[in-house]
Order: sequence, then C-alpha cells, then structure tokens
Amino acid sequence: MLPYQPLVIFFFCLLFLSFRPACAGDYLNSAHGNSSYGVERSSTSSLGYSKGNCAHCHEQHASIGGEEPEPARGEASGYLLFNPNHTSQMENFCFDCHQSGGYQTDGISNNKSYSYTFGGYTNASSYDSNIKDSFSHAEGMSGSSHYLPDFVTQVLGKTMRDANGVSWSLPADLNPCDACHNPHLAQRNANVPYESTKSAISRPSDHKNRWGDEASEMMSATYSDYLSPYWSGSTNHEPANNSISDGSNLPNYVRLCTDCHNEYNVINSTNPRLPDTPRAIRRLSWGVTGTFVIPDGHGSLDGAGIIYSLPPYISGSYLTLNCTDCHEPHGSPNNIYLVRSSINKAAISFPDNSMPAWQSFCFTACHDRANHSYNRFECERCHYHGGGHGGF
Ligand code: HEC
Ligand code: HEC
Ligand code: HEC
Ligand code: HEC
Ligand code: HEC
Ligand code: HEC
Repeated sequence: MLPYQPLVIFFFCLLFLSFRPACAGDYLNSAHGNSSYGVERSSTSSLGYSKGNCAHCHEQHASIGGEEPEPARGEASGYLLFNPNHTSQMENFCFDCHQSGGYQTDGISNNKSYSYTFGGYTNASSYDSNIKDSFSHAEGMSGSSHYLPDFVTQVLGKTMRDANGVSWSLPADLNPCDACHNPHLAQRNANVPYESTKSAISRPSDHKNRWGDEASEMMSATYSDYLSPYWSGSTNHEPANNSISDGSNLPNYVRLCTDCHNEYNVINSTNPRLPDTPRAIRRLSWGVTGTFVIPDGHGSLDGAGIIYSLPPYISGSYLTLNCTDCHEPHGSPNNIYLVRSSINKAAISFPDNSMPAWQSFCFTACHDRANHSYNRFECERCHYHGGGHGGF
C-alpha cells in the first residue's frame, strides 16, 4: 500500500478544494484520465501508478513513497505539479509531455497543427508535429505563435469581457494553455474517425466546462451561413474529411476566440513576431454591429456577399467564417498572424505583409480576384480586422 499512501492523502485534501465536479466521470472521460491512452509518466508508471492516474501530473511534496520520480527538482511546484506550471514561451509544464520525446511513455500521437489534423494538409514541413514546436515559432523557429507571456500579463488575473460585454476572469497563476483548455476535462476528438462531441477546449469565460461538445455549441447553431473549407486534396470538407459542410460537426471557435479578441478587450502584445511589435492587438467584431470598431466582412455582417469566389464558396452568397478557417490556434510556420499553412486546401505562404504575400493569401484559397486592381496599394492599409475600407 505504501506508494499509494501520499496520493490517498492528496486525494483527501483535494476533496476540500473546488474540484469535486471533475473528480469522477468527467476526468475519467477526459483524454488525460483515459485508461488506454491517458497520462503515463515513465517514472511514476514504474512506481505502479496506472495510466490516467492524477499522480502522473501531481506529486505531493515533490515525492512519492520517499523518492522523487523524474524530473527531480527537490521542491513541490505550484498546484503540486511535478514541474513549475509556466516559466516562459519555451518552458511550460504541458511541454514536458506535449513535445517530441518528453516524459509520456511512448510519446503522444495527437499533437499536430490544426491544418494537419483538421484540414488534412500533410505536406512535409508545412505543419508542426508537436505542440511545443507550434509555440516555438515566436522565439526558436521561424513562423508565428500565440505568445504565452502576454497571456500571463494581459489576460490571467485580469477582468476581461466576452463578445457580449459580459465580464469574466481566470486565476493569475493558471497555466496560460489552460486559458483555452482544462487539463481535467479536455477530450480527444482527433482520433480516426473524428468524434465531434469530444471537445478538447474550454472557453476562458467558462473554464469548468468543455466548449463544443453539444449541438448548441457548434458553428451551425449560431451561423446558418457557415460553409466549411475543403479537406486537402479532395472535395470532402473540414474538419472530418467527409461531406458535412454546415459546421454541425465543428465547434464554434468564433465564440472561443472572441472571449478575448472582441471590441472591448485591449490586449497589449510584446510578441516578437507581430508586425510593428510591441503594440495593442486590433479589436474586432464578428457580429453585425460594433460599438468601438467596424464589424468585419468575414463575420456575420452581410454586405455585398462574396464575389469572384473559389469553390466551395459560391459567388453572391453571404458567409460567416470560423477563425480557424484562416488561423492556427497555437502557431504556424507562416511568419505572421498565425495564418494557416493551407487554407481551403491551397498552400499559403505569408512570410510578411508584402503585396505578393497578401495576393497569395487572398487569391489562391478563396477569391480568384478582386473588384479593384490587384496592386492598388499595400493591402493591409485597407484590409484588417476592424478596418473600414472594404473591411476584412
Ligand atoms: C495532465 C496533467 C494533469 C492531470 C492528469 C491532473 N491534473 Fe490537476 N491540475 C493540473 C494543472 C496544470 C493544474 C493547475 C491549474 C492550471 O494551470 O490549470 C491542476 C490543478 C488541480 C487542482 C487545483 C484546482 C483546479 O482545478 O485548478 C486540483 C484540486 C487538481 N488539479 C486535482 C487533480 C486530480 C484529483 C486529478 C486526477 C483525478 C488531476 N488533478 C489530474 C494538471 C493535471
Ligand atoms: C504526463 C504527460 C502529460 C502532461 C504533463 C500533459 N499532457 Fe496533455 N495529453 C497527454 C496524453 C497522453 C494525451 C492523450 C494523447 C493522445 O490522445 O494521443 C493528452 C491529451 C491532451 C489533450 C486532448 C487533445 C487530443 O486530441 O488528444 C489536450 C487538449 C491536452 N492534452 C492539453 C494539455 C495541457 C494544456 C497540458 C498542461 C496543463 C497537458 N496536456 C499536460 C499527456 C500529458
Ligand atoms: C487560444 C486558445 C488556445 C491556447 C492558448 C492553447 N490551445 Fe491548444 N488548442 C486550441 C484549439 C482551438 C485546438 C484545436 C481544437 C481541437 O483539437 O479540437 C487546440 C488543440 C490542442 C491539442 C490537440 C491537438 C490535436 O492534434 O488534436 C493539444 C494537445 C493542445 N491544444 C495543447 C495545448 C497546449 C499544451 C497549450 C499551451 C502550450 C495550448 N494547447 C494552448 C486552443 C488553444
Ligand atoms: C485567453 C485569451 C485569448 C484567446 C481565447 C485567444 N487569443 Fe489570440 N491572443 C491573445 C493574446 C494575449 C495575444 C497577444 C500575444 C500575441 O501576440 O500572441 C493574442 C494574439 C493573437 C494574434 C496575433 C499574433 C501575432 O503575433 O500576430 C492572433 C492572430 C490571434 N491572437 C488569433 C487568435 C485566434 C484565431 C483565437 C481562437 C482560436 C485566439 N486568438 C484566441 C489572447 C487570446
Ligand atoms: C485603398 C483601399 C484598398 C486597398 C489598398 C486594397 N483593397 Fe481590396 N478592397 C477594398 C474595398 C473598398 C473592397 C470592397 C469591394 C470594392 O468596393 O471594390 C475590397 C475588396 C477586396 C476583395 C473582395 C472581392 C471584391 O472585390 O469585393 C479582395 C479579395 C481584396 N479586396 C483583395 C485585396 C488585395 C489582395 C489587396 C492588396 C494587393 C487589396 N485588396 C488592397 C479596398 C482596398
Ligand atoms: C479570412 C481569413 C481570416 C479569418 C476568417 C480570421 N482572420 Fe484574423 N487575421 C487574418 C489576417 C489576414 C490578419 C492580418 C491583418 C490584420 O491584422 O487584421 C489577421 C489578424 C488577426 C489578429 C491580429 C490583429 C493585429 O493586431 O495585427 C487577430 C487577433 C486575429 N486575426 C484574430 C481573429 C479572430 C478572433 C478571428 C475569428 C473571429 C479571425 N481572426 C478570423 C485573417 C483572418
């Protein structure tokens, strides 16, 4: 019984924390708690803890049964984790497993970019093969990534507002990854076949629930004019490589992203890859009105409709896009703005803000030309989120 004793005490303490809802079924149904593909740190596994056990992430007093399993640090980390929760863009507790190698026995298979997993774009070097790489573009590798230090200074512990103006906040010492995920609830949707209701994400304004695991949380529930892009190399659609195109199998990522990126929150970015950094991130409205910004044309606003469209989009139709139709959520080999390496099955090269880069972006995936001349001025003078002239 000895090796388990500290954990029993740990569990006992946990019962008095605000954790009860996720303790039982929810955790066991999560990707981490799963008994066939869940957490299994090699060192704790050899002490007898079964796959999915909390002890693969949490240790009391940094020791179990008098020994400290790998990695040894000599002191307990916050939340009794086996390593500090967050240090920098390149050093994060989650990367201890979500990298190539790492502490997870046999590594992790579902760890790739959005374009790869949900767009089928598998060309060599177009995708990140693990989560740590996806976040390394801001510093270590070329490309662009969401910058976690700014999540810590601009989001966590702050009073934020969602797209409806309703306030929310998250604890200041939360792992920045957990602004969008809850490690005790996150499920695995990406295994084959794709399972749309097994959601991996939680909205920052509703951290104790999954987002995208119910019909009312899918794109189609809010936007009747959504049409998902093609899957790479076929006329099947994202995200499941089948004929479903109305977003009924796709979480409403607009609602996730606009908990932070909306017309209200002012987010100051120090991301080294953001053009003209450091500066405030542009505010945007995906709705039909905007109090502080002009609403975007790619959002719900129905202006003139799309013209000069490439399939599956149809000229003259009104559409609302999902943020992940154009952006990676974590990072991208494209140098700026987390722009996906493939959009609507076309390869996208977006190394900078030059006209050729923008032309490649606009005219290979969705539009085959514009009403105005191809080389009017620098495109981003007029086309940006919240912009007025032609909008975005
Ligand atoms: C994949 C790693 C991982 C596993 C497995 C895991 N946790 Fe956690 N847990 C965390 C992290 C990380 C935090 C710190 C809060 C944050 O940053 O999200 C945390 C925080 C907590 C907290 C503090 C309250 C809260 O919800 O933030 C409790 C209690 C807790 N975990 C209990 C458990 C129990 C019980 C289990 C097993 C049933 C478990 N954890 C399994 C990663 C994990
Ligand atoms: C001890 C190793 C370990 C740690 C630490 C860990 N994970 Fe995981 N994670 C896993 C394993 C194993 C899976 C399931 C892998 C699979 O599905 O192939 C997983 C799955 C996930 C999933 C579900 C997605 C999917 O499709 O599988 C998410 C989201 C996730 N982890 C996020 C996190 C976050 C955020 C943290 C840090 C708070 C974290 N993980 C820390 C091992 C770990
Ligand atoms: C801005 C929100 C956001 C942040 C911050 C974020 N993620 Fe994610 N993550 C997402 C979205 C959106 C997806 C795609 C949804 C899905 O897999 O169903 C995703 C997917 C994942 C997956 C599953 C990948 C797969 O192949 O299916 C893992 C694992 C993961 N994230 C881990 C992390 C880790 C670790 C961090 C921090 C280093 C992190 N995430 C930070 C939004 C975020
Ligand atoms: C929890 C809050 C939060 C959520 C949710 C969130 N972001 Fe961000 N985002 C930030 C912060 C903070 C920054 C500033 C740091 C930076 O530049 O990466 C940022 C910056 C960005 C940038 C500019 C990065 C650059 O360097 O050009 C893009 C693009 C972006 N987010 C897209 C998204 C998308 C797409 C989603 C939804 C999948 C999303 N964000 C969800 C907090 C968030
Ligand atoms: C001086 C402002 C301005 C600049 C610079 C600009 N555009 Fe536009 N763009 C517009 C306006 C306004 C519209 C709305 C349609 C119209 O009235 O011509 C538009 C529409 C579009 C459309 C939608 C199709 C259409 O014609 O309605 C695309 C695609 C487009 N622009 C691409 C580009 C690209 C690529 C560049 C850079 C090479 C660029 N634009 C530069 C103002 C501009
Ligand atoms: C049609 C493709 C497309 C869609 C859909 C899209 N974006 Fe963007 N996004 C871009 C491009 C191009 C840029 C660079 C121009 C700019 O800054 O607006 C950008 C830039 C950004 C930035 C950085 C703004 C800055 O200050 O430079 C954020 C944040 C962002 N997008 C978030 C989102 C969110 C959130 C959604 C969904 C509500 C979304 N995007 C949907 C193409 C898209």
